Amino acid sequence: MNTGTVWDGARKRIHMQEVGTRDGLQAEAAFVPTEDKISLVNALSEAGIAKIEVTAFVSPRAIPALRDAETVLREIRRWPDVVYTALVPNVRGAERAIAARADELNLVMSASETHNLANLRMTRAQSFAALSQVAALARSAGVEVNISLSCSFGCPMEGDVREGVVLEWVQRFADIGADGITLCDTAGMAYPTQVAALTQTLRKRWPAIGLALHFHNTRGMGLANVLAAIDAGADRFDASLGGIGGCPYAPGATGNVCSEEIVHALELMGYATGVNLEKLLAASRRLPALIGHDTPSQIVRAGRRLDLHPAPGDFDVIRERALARAPR
Ligand code: COA
Ligand code: ZN
Repeated sequence: MNTGTVWDGARKRIHMQEVGTRDGLQAEAAFVPTEDKISLVNALSEAGIAKIEVTAFVSPRAIPALRDAETVLREIRRWPDVVYTALVPNVRGAERAIAARADELNLVMSASETHNLANLRMTRAQSFAALSQVAALARSAGVEVNISLSCSFGCPMEGDVREGVVLEWVQRFADIGADGITLCDTAGMAYPTQVAALTQTLRKRWPAIGLALHFHNTRGMGLANVLAAIDAGADRFDASLGGIGGCPYAPGATGNVCSEEIVHALELMGYATGVNLEKLLAASRRLPALIGHDTPSQIVRAGRRLDLHPAPGDFDVIRERALARAPR
């Protein structure tokens, strides 16, 4: 994994990691048909997304929306430069994901004891023990390991999570050889100065570990957090198509930052995301029919900044009248 800053010509490369088919669909009441999930993942690959979290190998009773994980991961088309990852909570999930040819396993635990118990039915210590086993299993199968730390910026049940607690867990993930670490703002509690401080510390202390950030837009700070993280040295971001998503075990959780909004903003600012926004938007416009409701995407609603609208039909009349009134 390349962890250094990559410049594409004069433009800084930002890696977009799509989580809509996992974080997004896990929260939806509707079961999206398997073939539609496959076609959505294929469209995301085609759009130039760097990494796609295709699904989760969790208990089908806990997350029925993703009970077709095997079929989806096996039947997608694989683009050679796209990483196909899957969330796994335990050894059972890891065995399933490896058998279905995941490129990477995304292991998950929470920085908050309360959220860890609510989400994974284990204490953090138990989760870490399970993670260590899964990491060893992945390594022997030649599969990369990313570890996502939920509630890194606060817990909706416990409140603030001390930075020292987050750093302690990151150290333990580094000790078991994680290739990448994702700091997750599960309940949208992160704010830009907090994000900048934590990002800087991680980049400095663990420069060899890939760092990604995962924000939810629950309180409207998603894009601000992404920009603060970039300024502090981050270049990998999770986001979801249409801005759907949310952890079913985090009270008040809402969608991830919206992929097309982030790509739209970053490209305007001169960053290279490698994503074809047109294709990404086309994929996002397919979502409402699949999930049965509109998405929070502002770009789907408003169009891109320079998607112009025609002037009013009686524009010539308006102009003539204005010019006739104008002082000469
Ligand atoms: N894949 C498929 N089935 C699994 C599984 C996996 N990875 N892990 C456990 N199961 C099944 C067990 O076989 C058992 O099934 P049964 O009731 O038919 O016998 C059931 O799930 C419960 O298993 P158990 O080991 O007792 O786990 P648990 O009830 O303590 O649940 C989790 C633990 C983590 C497996 C479960 O809560 C889960 O999958 N949660 C999903 C969390 C999630 O995705 N959150 C959002 C993203 S962060
Ligand atoms: Zn999330």
